[in-house]
Amino acid sequence: MTDQQKIERAEEDTVAFTVENGIAWVKFNRPEKRNCMSPKLNRQMGKVIADLEFRDDVKVLVLTGEGDAWSAGMDLKEYFRETEAQGLGMIRKSQREAYSWWERLRWYEKPTIAMVNGWCFGGGYGPLFACDIAIAADDAQFGLSEINWGILPGGGASKVVADLMPLRKAMYHAMMGENLTGKQAEEQGLVTEAVPADRLKARVLEIAEALAKKDGHALRATKWAVRRMTEMTYDNAEDYLIRAQEALHNFGGVEARKEATRQFLDEKSFKPGLGTFDTSKIKR
Ligand code: ACO
Repeated sequence: MTDQQKIERAEEDTVAFTVENGIAWVKFNRPEKRNCMSPKLNRQMGKVIADLEFRDDVKVLVLTGEGDAWSAGMDLKEYFRETEAQGLGMIRKSQREAYSWWERLRWYEKPTIAMVNGWCFGGGYGPLFACDIAIAADDAQFGLSEINWGILPGGGASKVVADLMPLRKAMYHAMMGENLTGKQAEEQGLVTEAVPADRLKARVLEIAEALAKKDGHALRATKWAVRRMTEMTYDNAEDYLIRAQEALHNFGGVEARKEATRQFLDEKSFKPGLGTFDTSKIKR
């Protein structure tokens, strides 16, 4: 048995995070198991992202993986085999622990970026989809490997590919169990962008810093609006967007817009078409 195989991580060690200059870098932290998601990891991730969500020093959350994996999906031993051995109650509990943090991330208060540094399989598509923006290394590997071990892509994974990829590509991806590189995942709509591995962190940092400068309330309203749109008729969308803009006014939206308009029209210190206004001057 190698040293790595002997690692039995405590629950709190299954996720690592640091907060630097407004950016929370959260990591799946089971590199010796390719960061696959066990019940312990799911519980810990739920706690970590909940704790970070309302911290004033966190403007953006980045989700990445320690080592050479982003996440190798669900843990076949701890999430499936050991849980199933304990009956339906435990199966449902484990599902809830996983799905609930993906859901929280899908509707997170702060902007989120998946920084996909390596393997991303099956259940990993849940948190991948939950992040607002996904940047992958060119050589990352994405796979719906479910079919390769005799199950269907559950935990939202079928929905993720049907929503993000053209149907012909999604169907092939799910049925064949062949992996896509980061570049192919970009071409097929699964991620926002793929970059050479040695540029991955720099590119994510660039995006995170740009987001951190924008008005957080407007960002939250925007990301929730875009996510809601996919399931609305045009008329419902129009109505929702009016209500959401009006709700944004309760969080200083009127003051933000007045200040931005002043900086553009009167001060001429910025152009909305070319960048963001100085949010530090909003009088709320
Ligand atoms: N569940 C349980 N254990 C896993 C998982 C997983 N999803 N992925 C990796 N591991 C474990 C391996 O069993 C191994 O454990 P050991 O050291 O105790 O033997 C360790 O992590 C390292 O894995 P290797 O296979 O040795 O690593 P390698 O770099 O050669 O391969 C790869 C990486 C391709 C990711 C491989 O581990 C793999 O195929 N993993 C499974 C991927 C997968 O299909 N996930 C499930 C998707 S479906 C779903 O999520 C519902």
